[in-house]
Amino acid sequence: MTGFSHKHSMNKREVLDMETKKRIFSGIKPSGELTLGSYMGAIKNWVSLQDEYECLYCVVDMHAITVRQVPADLRRRSLEQLAQYIACGLDPEKNIMFIQSHVPQHAELSWVLGCYTQFGELSRMTQFKDKSQKHADNINAGLFTYPVLMAADILLYQSDLVPVGDDQKQHVELCRDIASRFNFLFPDTFTMPEPFIPKMGARIMSLGAPDTKMSKSDPEGCVILMDKPEDIMRKFKRAVTDCESAVRFDKVNKPGISNLLTIYCAATGKTMEEAEAEFADKGYGVFKPAVGEAVVELLRPIREETTRLLTDKAYLESIYKEGAEKASYLANKTLRKVYKKVGFVPRG
Ligand code: TRP
Repeated sequence: MTGFSHKHSMNKREVLDMETKKRIFSGIKPSGELTLGSYMGAIKNWVSLQDEYECLYCVVDMHAITVRQVPADLRRRSLEQLAQYIACGLDPEKNIMFIQSHVPQHAELSWVLGCYTQFGELSRMTQFKDKSQKHADNINAGLFTYPVLMAADILLYQSDLVPVGDDQKQHVELCRDIASRFNFLFPDTFTMPEPFIPKMGARIMSLGAPDTKMSKSDPEGCVILMDKPEDIMRKFKRAVTDCESAVRFDKVNKPGISNLLTIYCAATGKTMEEAEAEFADKGYGVFKPAVGEAVVELLRPIREETTRLLTDKAYLESIYKEGAEKASYLANKTLRKVYKKVGFVPRG
């Protein structure tokens, strides 16, 4: 392992935690800016898990290049994403935070697992089918084997739980299939991971088209964590509603208002009943800017802290270096075991 010393990379408490706490792995691709949806649907939950579990949170840059990226932008966003993990409240002392390409065992295990994954299985993945339609000019092998790399991410760390959104459940299921096939051939290799949909997970929809997930490909319907207050306010004031005027939660008939209520509750910590009561006698003209303001206040400290962290490159570097070192230590244990089981000659 070039450059990493594994021997003393963890102290006693950390080693003990590793043995007693359940392990969590999750990651986000730095293929676009983090959004309000990434925060409310994923990172906020990660923060709530950091004390109870042993967590690894990754910037999955290797997954990002399955679609074309501008190299300089990818580099900038990967660092920014790490800074945002911290600014959102993930404590680098409690979690292992790292950049996927810094831990070569991901690629190495991915190759082996790919040899235990069937073409047919990968062909059935809905994300592959969607993406190969969207990027018809670039249906590359990485896009096809994307779920194998994701399985490697998870299995390398003997993860128990994998917090993911609905759209990634099929990939975690495939990861389980690969793991159980491998364990059947080579017993006791991998911990069987489970998808973990946390209780307080909020699925945030586009402000412009509330029947689709908030996504950076739709800039006006999407609030990014680095948006300035005036941009946030504009987007909320223009949010799609309906022709009734009551502020009440009704996902089927009032998807826009329901989404705004969900955002309001997640931003303020209020319950749905409290939020509905607060706006019971008020119209959309009062409600929409109120949601905007709650989000402005929620994101202000995150944006400011991210900006501050990005000026401290030495600190960020120390975090991702230490993260990669710890991750690599754990990953290596699994990879050695796998290499031995499949019949590779030990390096000695
Ligand atoms: N595929 C995930 C997504 O697009 C990101 C990801 C990569 C991931 N590896 C992972 C998530 C491992 C959980 C665990 O959201």
